Amino acid sequence: MKLGFTGLGNMSMAMVEGLKASKKFNMENIYASAQNKEKLENNCEKLKINATKDNQDCIDKSDLIFIGVKPESLHTLNLDFKGKPVISMAAKTNFEALETFFGPQNFYRIMPNLNVKQNMGVIALSHQYEKNLELYNTLSLLGHVYEIEEHMISGFIALAGSSPALMYRFIDALSDAVLDEGFTKQEALEIVSYTMMGSAQTVLNAKESPKTLVEKVSSKGGTTIEGLKVFDDYHFEDTMKKAARAIIDKDKMGMF
Ligand SMILES: NC(=O)c1ccc[n+]([C@@H]2O[C@H](COP(=O)([O-])OP(=O)(O)OC[C@H]3O[C@@H](n4cnc5c(N)ncnc54)[C@H](OP(=O)(O)O)[C@@H]3O)[C@@H](O)[C@H]2O)c1
Repeated sequence: MKLGFTGLGNMSMAMVEGLKASKKFNMENIYASAQNKEKLENNCEKLKINATKDNQDCIDKSDLIFIGVKPESLHTLNLDFKGKPVISMAAKTNFEALETFFGPQNFYRIMPNLNVKQNMGVIALSHQYEKNLELYNTLSLLGHVYEIEEHMISGFIALAGSSPALMYRFIDALSDAVLDEGFTKQEALEIVSYTMMGSAQTVLNAKESPKTLVEKVSSKGGTTIEGLKVFDDYHFEDTMKKAARAIIDKDKMGMF
């Protein structure tokens, strides 16, 4: 099966790098197009995939077509998909909007996050008409795939698409906060990141809820509870709710 990426930016590159890292996909079966030919050639050479001469050439050579341009550029593409499955990774663009740009097609929407690069992505997959096992199996090489209905994608963006940025802010802020205690920034970043990984694994393995796990860490009169009190004072849960709502609303608003 041949994959085509029309647009080889941050997300398409991360997906291709993840497929390479999985060692389970033949990189010779990946084709890509972009506007800047020199950059495209360099990236394709680095990833051992095929640069094509333009978007149509990329589509003609592929079986599954991934649209990897920014949502705002979708309307500039004039493409003949020839009945092949078309997979959009664009936020703010539902099936209805895709149809206005490209006419009726066999559309799929995916919502990956950049962790696909390490095969630890969390990816939403929605189909407009029919499931596609080859697509599901390919995405599974990149991490955990959740087949969801289209109307849930905005919520998924808050949970997994945009949330890495919230988590990076958390990691960065906590490591900055202890620099006075003698750690280098690099040490602090590593310590917080490993703790976040381990804590996430604990939540996945645990039979208890996160609230119970919080109680287990925070003994009465101990240190943790002092930090949690500050979270309460500054309405941590409310802040998280507002951030998720802002992400969801922006996605639902669409592009225009
Ligand atoms: N980044 C994320 O974390 C993330 C997460 C979930 C979903 N997404 C979605 O992924 C998509 C791509 O985002 P991105 O962050 O990868 O953007 P990006 O880094 O800006 O990449 C966009 C790519 O599209 C190419 N392009 C632009 N116009 C084109 C055209 N007319 N024909 C062919 N290629 C064209 C660009 O090529 P040139 O550089 O040559 O102009 C570039 O390779 C978006 O729809 C976004 O919503 C991104």
